[in-house]
Amino acid sequence: MEELVRKNILNITPYAAGKPIEEIKRQLGLKEIIKLASNENPLGPSPKAMEAIKKNLSGANRYPDSQGYYLKKRISRYLNVKPANIVLGNGSDELIDIIIKTFVEDDENIITADITFLEYEIISKVNGRRIISVPLRYFKYDLEAIKKKIDKNTKLIFISNPNNPTGTYVTKLEFEDFMRDLPDNVLLVLDEAYDTFIDVDDFPRGLDYIKGSTKLTLDPEQGRRVNNKKVIVLKTFSKAYGLAGLRIGYAVANPELVSYMEKVRQPFNVNMLAQVAATAALEDKKFLRKTRKTILAGRDYLYDALSKLGIAYVPTVANFILIDVGRDGVSVFKDMLKYGVIVRDMDQYGLKNFIRVTIGTKKENERFIKVLKKVIGNR
Ligand SMILES: Cc1ncc(COP(=O)(O)O)c(C=O)c1O
Repeated sequence: MEELVRKNILNITPYAAGKPIEEIKRQLGLKEIIKLASNENPLGPSPKAMEAIKKNLSGANRYPDSQGYYLKKRISRYLNVKPANIVLGNGSDELIDIIIKTFVEDDENIITADITFLEYEIISKVNGRRIISVPLRYFKYDLEAIKKKIDKNTKLIFISNPNNPTGTYVTKLEFEDFMRDLPDNVLLVLDEAYDTFIDVDDFPRGLDYIKGSTKLTLDPEQGRRVNNKKVIVLKTFSKAYGLAGLRIGYAVANPELVSYMEKVRQPFNVNMLAQVAATAALEDKKFLRKTRKTILAGRDYLYDALSKLGIAYVPTVANFILIDVGRDGVSVFKDMLKYGVIVRDMDQYGLKNFIRVTIGTKKENERFIKVLKKVIGNR
């Protein structure tokens, strides 16, 4: 039935999601499973969000607020932007789609890295848009190489900062150097899904450039600012706030860009429970602090344990670690599964000898190391 399908759909490899815990329980008959495959929050959802969901369940017969009034108001207070700067999405996945549909014409192209969040490529292709993938350099976005690939048809550039699946980041100086030469007709999307875990000083916070408050550090005239009409920042409640199952994220951009994206957004794209949960989660500072502490402590533990085992990894500023297992990552993934530990093989990213592990609770991290040792020692 191929002749019925749009040609650009035929050669798309569907996104391979992390395996759900229930599926592995069913398949392998295992009782205790830990999932460290999708960069979720190991502590569960924010307790304040759960409370809000319970309180609002009885309103599920009504359509959600299509404008997300209260949530936008809460986000705008949190980030010190205006509600008119915000577009809500059914996860940031949906916002990637909305951005492409809003801004990229048929004959225009999109640039990103070759090893990065797979949805940039998949959604570009679904929309029939050409995507140019630029190789990473030492596991990092190579902005110099990306700059060279910009042509007269380039409309959009996606930067995952930090990058999934490598955990590396583009520094403030690198970013500003890149922005200075970016043509005015090119939009830059900074996907900050993991920004809560950042613990370095030279990370460029995308919002600073939208507010137009940041002078270019390297600018010889020391007065120029990044054109704030060119930057769109993506954020999600799926990671630090523990709401991946509710599907909610948002974009922050110049109000004029937002007004065009609003024409493309489906009216009821964000469900009511997601809206109330996200609004409450933003109040949950205690939960956020605990999450950050857990991840940073877990990262230190894993660095130490991996080093002791002589296993190489890519240093990360996110809640996952890319690990060089020195042999076929798919078989390491499968062997770990037999012991009830779900990690992610990197086959779809073309990183044959790697796995990616999400940083979990202390207990989960210890179990991961124990099983990794068993599996790698068994070979
Ligand atoms: C870089 C990046 N952007 C976006 C997402 C998707 O987030 P959401 O759950 O909000 O669709 C992910 C999820 O893994 C991600 O790694």
